[in-house]
Amino acid sequence: MNIFLTGETTVRKVLIPQNRLQERVSELGQEISQAFAGKDLVIVAILKGSFVFAADLLRAISIQCSIDFMGISSYAGQPGSGVVRITKDLDESIAGRSVLLVEDIIDTGLTANYLLHNLRQRKPVSVDVCALLDKSARRLIDLPIPYRGFEIPDVFVVGYGMDYQQRYRQLPHIAILRSNGDTNQGLDDLKTDQAGNTNES
Ligand code: IMP
Repeated sequence: MNIFLTGETTVRKVLIPQNRLQERVSELGQEISQAFAGKDLVIVAILKGSFVFAADLLRAISIQCSIDFMGISSYAGQPGSGVVRITKDLDESIAGRSVLLVEDIIDTGLTANYLLHNLRQRKPVSVDVCALLDKSARRLIDLPIPYRGFEIPDVFVVGYGMDYQQRYRQLPHIAILRSNGDTNQGLDDLKTDQAGNTNES
């Protein structure tokens, strides 16, 4: 898989290749299917970042369940505050149901914490978190993540639904865009071959 996008001159380092993502999502689907067997499960996927992960996860779940979406964005000028604006609310009631909150990545944990509080007010039977990526080194809030895809280091990642300024969501793997706090780092220090291996340029 060639990760170069039309018009791009830069390259990124693959952190998690497509086949590893598929394997882990499949395992998560099996774990979730066992844990929620016999329950009225509703997957709540947080837009936009989790839409690719949620679509694959849903197809890896072998029990009856439904999926609903919440759209959120940070309040302007307050990124990282944990206060989010709900741009699209759930379509269905979650009262009396088992909710699985599906996130792309948990960083400080502030967003997920806000969403958990919000969802618990709607009287579900339970709310559990499933996150594809866990950047636990940056956690500010203790947050149980019973269904977790991968622990990753403190790097900014894109792909598989995750973006940088609304771009790169279509990459089929997780790629490192730059190190946190290193906004000027070019992306052309590593080259990625078609098998997703990284090589020094
Ligand atoms: P938190 O509130 O700090 O846990 O941030 C969670 C949200 O920040 C995620 O749902 C993403 O939208 C975004 N985010 C955090 N780290 C990254 C990253 O490395 N790449 C892309 N988005 C990220």
